[in-house]
Amino acid sequence: MLRVIRHGNLAFVMRNVAIPTEFEDLLSQAGRRVLAGTHPLCGALANPRIRFLAQDDLIDRTKATRLRRALEENLTNTLEPIEKPIPPDSIWGMRHDYGEHLPKTSRARTIYFESQREPGVKAAEKLGLVRMMRSQSFRAFAEALAGRKLASGWGLQVLRYGPGDYAGPHNDHHPENKDAKGGYIDLHLSLATPSVDHQWLVYSRAGHFSEIVSVARPAAVTAYRLPFWHYTTPLVGTAKAARWVLLGTFLYR
Ligand SMILES: [Fe+2]
Repeated sequence: MLRVIRHGNLAFVMRNVAIPTEFEDLLSQAGRRVLAGTHPLCGALANPRIRFLAQDDLIDRTKATRLRRALEENLTNTLEPIEKPIPPDSIWGMRHDYGEHLPKTSRARTIYFESQREPGVKAAEKLGLVRMMRSQSFRAFAEALAGRKLASGWGLQVLRYGPGDYAGPHNDHHPENKDAKGGYIDLHLSLATPSVDHQWLVYSRAGHFSEIVSVARPAAVTAYRLPFWHYTTPLVGTAKAARWVLLGTFLYR
């Protein structure tokens, strides 16, 4: 997104008007009530019975559309493929009837923020996306839903699901990471194009994949108290259909 302001003979080019400095500036009135601590969802993830939230009125629709277009225009070509298919061995390597084991499978495109040198990271920084996802109001929003304090450094990821992209069953448990093995919070901002027909998040409750929520929404916030079993169904829509997900992964303080 580019805006040119004429001022006398000077043309000031302002980039990134679609991406505010603070996450707070993307919020709707209802979203601001979360930050203020007055929304009914505040502290919801501290409830032992609630592991997952999906809400589509917390982000301003117009700003979300502008943000999604900025991602589409500036980041699409920098994304890296995630391609983790079903291992053939998971069938032909079986030795016992009903002995199936399926590792996490998925297909999507992403920006990993581990290395500053990644082209996607550089593009996300230039766009102002990193600044917004590192803004204090992003963590404060996650804290409000989590109902507890979260650590000051947090992980970032950007995902883009196109037609047929999905994530197979997995639980996001990290037993080898001492800071994450007791659980953590994920906050996702999900931005789907109108041409997405459907995509669902299926998650477990009381040991069964019994819960299902649409994530094919133009401006949704989802929040997870991980780990728990879940999967994302293949995105269905036109050839140009896409769902962007901006993820923050927050450890407990
Ligand atoms: Fe997950």
